[in-house]
Amino acid sequence: MCVFILAIESSCDDTSVAVSCDNKILANLIANQEVHRQYGGVVPELASRAHQQNIVPVVDLAIRNANISKKDLHAVAYTRGPGLLGSLLVGTAFGKAFSYGLKIPAIAVDHLQAHILCHFIQNEQGNKKMPAFPFLCLTVSGGHTQIVLVKDFFDMEVIGKTIDDAAGEAFDKTAKILGLPYPGGPLVDTLAKIGNPHAFKLSLPKIQALDFSFSGLKTSFLYLIRDQLRKDAGFVDKNLNDLCASMQYSIIKVLTDKLIRASKETGINEIAIAGGVSANSLLRSELLKYGKDLGWSTYIPPLEHSTDNAAMIAVTAFYKYKQGDFADINAVPYTRSK
Ligand code: KG4
Ligand code: ZN
Repeated sequence: MCVFILAIESSCDDTSVAVSCDNKILANLIANQEVHRQYGGVVPELASRAHQQNIVPVVDLAIRNANISKKDLHAVAYTRGPGLLGSLLVGTAFGKAFSYGLKIPAIAVDHLQAHILCHFIQNEQGNKKMPAFPFLCLTVSGGHTQIVLVKDFFDMEVIGKTIDDAAGEAFDKTAKILGLPYPGGPLVDTLAKIGNPHAFKLSLPKIQALDFSFSGLKTSFLYLIRDQLRKDAGFVDKNLNDLCASMQYSIIKVLTDKLIRASKETGINEIAIAGGVSANSLLRSELLKYGKDLGWSTYIPPLEHSTDNAAMIAVTAFYKYKQGDFADINAVPYTRSK
């Protein structure tokens, strides 16, 4: 017999629901919200309305796909924050009501902790190698960029963070400057594949300690485009792949330089990446390369656990369940990281 958990992730623009059996995932569904595409970014009010429409059918389908009945569930987990308030409210209210109706505990999960703990999702064979404590995790998403010293499941210390934009934001702004649709990260990654990463030299930040900055890099990219467009109106079209490759190379270099420094300073060689930008092909290959060169044990999530998903909420909830860490019915969402 295992612990069955239903988990809901609704912090931003995707409604995701997972069902887990201990730390294994039986179902993990994501309803993408296409409505934001025409606006070039997430519109919070439209996101919460779409969550309201999606949540019941996605929960229903996830339970059916997991081949269990709702009576089998031991707990219901939801993302409490950080994220968009209206979006979080939908998942929080549904999670509380569903658990209350079933007379089982509710479990509140932190989205950033969950990105990190996705590394503890076990595969079907039950033989996946998981990070050993303490390990370092570079958490890179649309709203956050952090190096986290993970001492235990729920004992984490942020030892470096961005002082302005997040890495995902840097990718999305790159796409916007180039006139590409939102979200730009995956598209920049694809276009960069056949570009020259050294075609354009961009100014890299000189930030102290383990902190990051991306706003100077973005400005240098913006000025490059502005100056070149004055000389040639077709500059972006003619150089699209090289522009994507050069900017991607710079963003990933900022990230990996700090990760190397963090490993040297802490003496920790267990290195993980997590969050939407961990889906980036260059970051993934660079990490493997450094793993070999520097003797790191590296942990790279499968693509479906890199970007937002409820499987990571489910596995985090499983470890909370084992500790008896249940949510109060009065728990309210939080929008900023704790
Ligand atoms: O973790 P996530 O799915 O949502 C947040 O919690 O923010 O991260 C989304 C971010 C977006 O900025 C998106 O452009 C970026 O991750 N992203 C990528 C790639 N896939 C998603 N950035 C670069 N390369 C990718 N392949
Ligand atoms: Zn996320």
